[in-house]
Amino acid sequence: MRVKSFLAALFAGFGVIGLGAAQTPPLAGPPIIAQNARLLPVLAQNGMVSSQERLASAIGVDVLKRGGNAVDAAVAVGFALAVTLPRAGNLGGGGFMLVHLAKTGETVAIDYREIAPAASTPTMFLNAAGEPDPQKSRDSGLSVGVPGTVRGMALALEKYGSGKFTLAQLIEPSVKLAREGIPVAEDLADSLPGAMGRMSRFPSSMAIFAKDGKALPRGSMLVQADLANTLESIRQQGPDAFYKGRIAEQIVAAVRETGGIMTVEDMANYKAVIRPAVTGRYRGYTLASMPPPSSGGVHLVQILNILEGFDLKAMGAGSAASLHALAEAMKPAYADRATFLGDPDRVKVPVKGLTSKAYAEKQRAKIDLSKATKADDIKAGDPLPHESDQTTHYSVVDSEGNAAANTYTLNFSYGMGLVAAGTGVLLNNEMDDFSAKPGAQNAYGLVGSDANSVHPGARPLSSMTPTIVFRDGKPFMVTGSPGGSRIISTTLQVITNVIDFDMNLAEAVAAPRIHHQWKPDALLVEPGLSPDTLKLLAERGQNVRPGAVSGSANSILLQGGWLQGAADTRQRGTAAIGY
Ligand code: GLY
Repeated sequence: MRVKSFLAALFAGFGVIGLGAAQTPPLAGPPIIAQNARLLPVLAQNGMVSSQERLASAIGVDVLKRGGNAVDAAVAVGFALAVTLPRAGNLGGGGFMLVHLAKTGETVAIDYREIAPAASTPTMFLNAAGEPDPQKSRDSGLSVGVPGTVRGMALALEKYGSGKFTLAQLIEPSVKLAREGIPVAEDLADSLPGAMGRMSRFPSSMAIFAKDGKALPRGSMLVQADLANTLESIRQQGPDAFYKGRIAEQIVAAVRETGGIMTVEDMANYKAVIRPAVTGRYRGYTLASMPPPSSGGVHLVQILNILEGFDLKAMGAGSAASLHALAEAMKPAYADRATFLGDPDRVKVPVKGLTSKAYAEKQRAKIDLSKATKADDIKAGDPLPHESDQTTHYSVVDSEGNAAANTYTLNFSYGMGLVAAGTGVLLNNEMDDFSAKPGAQNAYGLVGSDANSVHPGARPLSSMTPTIVFRDGKPFMVTGSPGGSRIISTTLQVITNVIDFDMNLAEAVAAPRIHHQWKPDALLVEPGLSPDTLKLLAERGQNVRPGAVSGSANSILLQGGWLQGAADTRQRGTAAIGY
């Protein structure tokens, strides 16, 4: 009963609640959304949260309504998703938050990516024959990076919160949800069965997520008492409760019992850092996105720079011509990713060159709009002369025009499937995002170079791309997505769908997406494109592979004094909620 009343209280009083459903545009004034729109975003005028899980969105909007800013709300949502979307929301993983403050105009990137334990070595994921051993990098204690989320959320709040909310206040709703339980519905019911294979090795995980050896059935309750206690400790004592003492010791014990090398010193030494955002310009808009150790922002800007020289609008949304141009622009960017990107604290990443218009011009000149370039014919370029599906994303905008874009992850769905006994914390397997060996593929088929090899204390290369697009210096769009290697291409297409093809946000998020990551040499296409289009792409030499591209680009757009929210309907339970 208490659960019901708590959940009911969360939803009570929202002026505008959109759960992917159409919202009636205002009657007076110029139309916010074209009258003939096929899909409608959620509309609101004050604040909005668009996330992958409804309860978490509601918690964030409640913070906004009580006077919190976008960062306060983003922190509350971050902790809530650790309870309500345990396959990706987390305490035991890491990620990136991009923050824009309206008052100062600054946009900063908070890097709370996991780090490699101090005892890590460049060869730790190789077998006796010197070949990559995916079992070690994805499925053993060695795969667990030192978690960054708790420090990241605390840093975001300390530096950029409104000052009206304490960390304790923002964690409180999550403690309640973990302790009282949430119904197994939507995403949980769909995703848990797939995780049973990995979880079934760990009684600590099965005790929480299974009953009688099977995934908790739809309609039952997921109660996470240990996680509630962990959250309560953080609530009372701050992030040190997670990184020092009992909880840290229990996490380290779980990692070491499964073959890992993490120590309590690794936990105690973890630091989240603030970095300057990567910036770019596209057709009169400016954008800020995530810098290394994510590759997301660099390559988003690089691909947009290449595309700027093509008239996508004239080619038409979803046409073979525009999809071919998108694919050809993605290929050289992903080739560069494999060569140049890594932890900026360890290697020099040529960000300026990779994101320069002059470099993009050279890469664009090699693109043939009538014929696909084979992956083997593309080599990483030379940016130096120009130098001067498991993750989750949410977007938040408040009434002052502050914005937060947050993407965080455990890497695989439910990470390694291992709950550190006594903590309720699911552990990541993020170490697989390092390059086990130059040229070896990770779980997403991405290849890397020595720039992304394993080193003590290094951060593995990511593709996470939380992004804010600006018009006239003010936030215009807040976006990003999960999807491993497809994060960059997904974020890209949401942006081009709005800027080039004039789609409203709901249409931009829902439109069928494509993905090409250079290697393997395959153009992945979502259902929804016509057979004729696919045939035309194949005739241009694209190696078309129909299949899931997916993602969950939970986004917000600011236009004409209104906020448009679109939660991605590719996943169950997503919700854009405004007021
Ligand atoms: N684990 C996926 C990424 O960080 O890109």
